Amino acid sequence: MKTTAMAPECGVEIEGVSLRSCSDSEMDAIKHAIYEHGVAVFRNQEFSPEDHIKFGRRWGGIDVNNYFPLQEDFNEIAVVKKEPDEQTNIGGAWHTDHSYDQIPAMGSILVARELPPSGGDTMWAHMGAAYDALSDDLKARIEGLEAFHTADHVYKADGLYAQTDMGKNLRGQDLKTGAVHPVVIRHPHTGRKLLYVNNAFTINFVGQTREESLPLLNELCDAALTDTNQCRLKWEPGTIAIWDNRTSWHNAMNDYQGHRREMHRITLSGEALAA
Ligand code: SIN
Repeated sequence: MKTTAMAPECGVEIEGVSLRSCSDSEMDAIKHAIYEHGVAVFRNQEFSPEDHIKFGRRWGGIDVNNYFPLQEDFNEIAVVKKEPDEQTNIGGAWHTDHSYDQIPAMGSILVARELPPSGGDTMWAHMGAAYDALSDDLKARIEGLEAFHTADHVYKADGLYAQTDMGKNLRGQDLKTGAVHPVVIRHPHTGRKLLYVNNAFTINFVGQTREESLPLLNELCDAALTDTNQCRLKWEPGTIAIWDNRTSWHNAMNDYQGHRREMHRITLSGEALAA
């Protein structure tokens, strides 16, 4: 396998491996690359829905997403799609998936199924590099702090998505979510310190109201994006991206109005997070 960096501090492209038939030692190397670099990209993969599920199970459990439509014949696969006549896309702002769960999903395996003629790239940002780049003062202010995360304002019947043309596609609008996590976590496998808040799902710091929390939350989310900790993927047929939700944020570009884009996503079970 050959590994090439996508950006100075985020993402790798891995060549020379077939995900549907990789060995256990290749699998270990792939996992480690993703834990470390936040996302790994694989090109020219032949990967049926059955391969997707089989490969997902090799990571441990699959966390079926509660909100997105599921693929009709393969209910472990969430369909992330936008039709030519729709305006809003799924995941079109910086976020980390499932931070609103008590045990957030470890990551996702996203497979390109139908791509627009141009646009529809995905970006990732590395939260270890983000933490390292914080000033000493900011690091001291968030030491020991915990934050509350929820998805209710995003997915509920009168939530953010419901007010867009994406609302009609959602499931689970009556669900209630909520979880408290440390603002700085240690990666369960690499031990690296990672900034673990995001503008989509983090509401407040524990012991503070939303209003009291917003200035610091916004300061952290602004500081989390540096010049060197982001990478951008231009999808091609046969491209697969696998990312780690602890190590990275991601953001799906919505710049292909009038065209169809369909991606298939399996979300991988994670483990409890700790400072
Ligand atoms: C997401 O999982 O947030 C969407 C990613 C994408 O469609 O590129």
